[in-house]
Amino acid sequence: MVRFIGFIVGLGLAGILLISLFVGAADYFSTPHEETAQHALHEHAKPLKLASDGPFGHFDNQQLQRGFQVYKEVCAACHGLSLVSFRDLAALGYEEPEIKAIADQWATEVPSINPDTGEASTRKAIPSDRFPSPYANAVAARAANNNALPPDLSLITKAREGGAAYTYSLLTGYRPQTADEVKRFPDAKTPAGLHYNPYFPNLNIAMPPPLTSEGQVTYADGTKSTVDQMAKDVTAFLVWTAEPKLENRHATGLAVVIFLIVASILAYFAYRNIWAEAKRKVRVTGALDPKNQAKSRAAKGEEGIAG
Ligand code: HEC
Repeated sequence: MVRFIGFIVGLGLAGILLISLFVGAADYFSTPHEETAQHALHEHAKPLKLASDGPFGHFDNQQLQRGFQVYKEVCAACHGLSLVSFRDLAALGYEEPEIKAIADQWATEVPSINPDTGEASTRKAIPSDRFPSPYANAVAARAANNNALPPDLSLITKAREGGAAYTYSLLTGYRPQTADEVKRFPDAKTPAGLHYNPYFPNLNIAMPPPLTSEGQVTYADGTKSTVDQMAKDVTAFLVWTAEPKLENRHATGLAVVIFLIVASILAYFAYRNIWAEAKRKVRVTGALDPKNQAKSRAAKGEEGIAG
């Protein structure tokens, strides 16, 4: 009886599930599929090749220095690098006096306390300081940027899907919204104060196009500073800020892989050596040969097969 009741209850539950499946499926197919603006207009990052890519990648110090120059002259007006110190620039090939001068002449001073009065004040940066944000805090940053917060760029190439390629695409992706796009998705029309950029997941970004014209930065090494070149260089620099020890990681990885290959070869020969005796016995006596296994004990004994 209990079994019967259980069966009926189970049947009822299965029936309800089946009905809800059909209702859901009918609903899915009967309502037209609405495309969202993000889905239709958002573009995936353009491919970007950097010297630091791949397991053997190395930083191109010339490029990193150019990228630093772009950061210093353009991006630093709004973005800080709270995890990178001026003295870390030594890794890009800058000498100590150059780093001192860069810190000393940095456009934003770092927060400090006036030793005479104890009041909050600012002082010139020194090599051990991090790259300061130009804003006192997030409230001030939002106030100056249409209520959007310019993120700290130290880890930005790790923090966004698409990484370096995304940053590069974002910097070169600004364009006017077409009339057709506005007609299709009136809600995605760029509001006043924002800028259309199909690589930004939200499509409209509060950052005004930072790189706009060729020659915006004059490179010390004579490289032509097109918008594309500046975007690539500053992206390469931001890959370095996010992972300054990338080259060490690549070198360690390579050493570990070579060690594992050698260890595997040694382990294989050790295995052959250890089992050689046992395998030889099996071969001679043939006890494990399926043909011999099928034989009777007496037949095995006659043929001198063990077991
Ligand atoms: C005038 C100020 C300003 C300058 C100059 C500027 N930015 Fe921005 N940036 C912003 C603001 C504001 C945001 C936040 C945008 C938002 O959330 O809509 C932002 C966001 C970003 C983001 C994050 C986008 C995301 O996915 O959230 C990146 C990356 C970025 N900026 C890179 C740069 C680089 C590289 C430069 C220099 C070439 C630069 N910015 C120069 C104001 C600026």
